[in-house]
Amino acid sequence: MAAIIVVGAQWGDEGKGKATDILGGRVDYVVKPNGGNNAGHTVVVGGEKYELKLLPAGVLSENATPMIGNGCVVNLEALFEEIDGLEARGADTSKLRISGNAHMVAPYHQTLDRVTERFLGKRAIGTTGRGIGPTYADKVGRVGLRVQDIFDESILRQKIEAALHQKNQILVKLYNRRAIEADRIFDYFMSYADRLKPMVVDSAYVLNEALDAGKHVLMEGGQATMLDVDHGTYPFVTSSNPTSGGACVGAGIGPTKITSTLGIIKAYTTRVGAGPFPTELFDKWGEFLQTTGGEVGVNTGRLRRCGWYDSVLARYASRVNGFTDLFVTKLDVLTGIGEIPICVAYDVDGVRHDEMPLTQSDFHHAVPIYETMPAWDEDITGCTTLEELPEKARDYLARLEELSGCRISYVGVGPGRDQTIIVNDLLA
Ligand code: GDP
Ligand code: IMO
Ligand code: MG
Repeated sequence: MAAIIVVGAQWGDEGKGKATDILGGRVDYVVKPNGGNNAGHTVVVGGEKYELKLLPAGVLSENATPMIGNGCVVNLEALFEEIDGLEARGADTSKLRISGNAHMVAPYHQTLDRVTERFLGKRAIGTTGRGIGPTYADKVGRVGLRVQDIFDESILRQKIEAALHQKNQILVKLYNRRAIEADRIFDYFMSYADRLKPMVVDSAYVLNEALDAGKHVLMEGGQATMLDVDHGTYPFVTSSNPTSGGACVGAGIGPTKITSTLGIIKAYTTRVGAGPFPTELFDKWGEFLQTTGGEVGVNTGRLRRCGWYDSVLARYASRVNGFTDLFVTKLDVLTGIGEIPICVAYDVDGVRHDEMPLTQSDFHHAVPIYETMPAWDEDITGCTTLEELPEKARDYLARLEELSGCRISYVGVGPGRDQTIIVNDLLA
């Protein structure tokens, strides 16, 4: 029995899709515990590139049953578009199951996401505009719509009416928009009901039964630690808990069952959207990482902001997630750059901080304190063992391990499924 959580350690796009794909071939279930179609997880198999948004990347793992957990928010239009797109490419999505407790994104959630961002002006979060924040806000505010509501038309209608009673006041009076008719929303959801119903299950029950029977479950987190609504750079975060505790809640699997928590971390750092980012680069190296690393957002096509590896963040992420292992991705991108800076601490208004400052204001002022390591010049994209890596690459990894407070068990040397060095196999 293995229950493995895959968590982003930075601000997202660390390579969680690839990590899931590598383990997914040998697990029985891959469940997405949080987020919605704001994610973008890439899997490259045999030169074919797949970009998963709402679905877990585990949908491409032949032997695994993919699941959307109770902690997710589901946009039905996006769901079926993605399923159809994958089927058209020959993938089999027939095993996909969805938790009846997951929440549904309504068209008004997307409207509210966009108008709220516009009204925030300079203080905008830079959301993906998918309605994620407003849907989670309704969940916590107890006026949300759950997937199971499509089984009870009368309840669904009542809930839509109750939600719109409040939303229309906001849309009309605050944002000067037209009111939304309940019938239109009801018809929107019901138009997907026949297709959705057979996919709905009590996912927590199914997953726990599987674990009790000795099977393997992987939780494929969306987003990342620094986007966590509790532990991230609030308010520049997403509206779910993409950390390991959130994965337990979002899949309905108790913490005592977790066997590994695998933090996915780039050999440098990126971020999409607004918010503080101490090691961000505005020089030719930022452009270098963007270009060589192909740092363009999967979901919105925005260029990712780039910077050096931040070990203060890595230690913080190790701590709040209880990482057992790290998967360092994109080591190949640093080949041939001469020297690699690593942020070891911050200078905040003249005071050295070895750990995350207490306040967000201090984090905004954090200036990285760097040490440097020599880079290697050899092509590492074909390396399959640590021994095959140049000594300087091994030294860089050893330093990251030392600074990050967690052992490195996987190293990515290219986007392909087979471009991974496995140091410790979590399923051995
Ligand atoms: P996710 O959101 O965490 O799943 O990550 P994304 O898929 O959004 O972004 C990661 C990008 O890096 C994708 O284009 C991957 O194909 C790519 N990638 C993952 N691991 C590696 C690696 O080790 N080396 C290189 N060069 N690319 C990688
Ligand atoms: P994956 O799973 C990177 C960012 C958005 C924005 C903030 C809030 O591919 O790592 P939201 O639409 O969630 O309300 O936006 O979070 N964001 C991501 N950035 N990768 C992601 O997912 C992200 N999902 C959300 O850019 O700054
Ligand atoms: Mg991504």
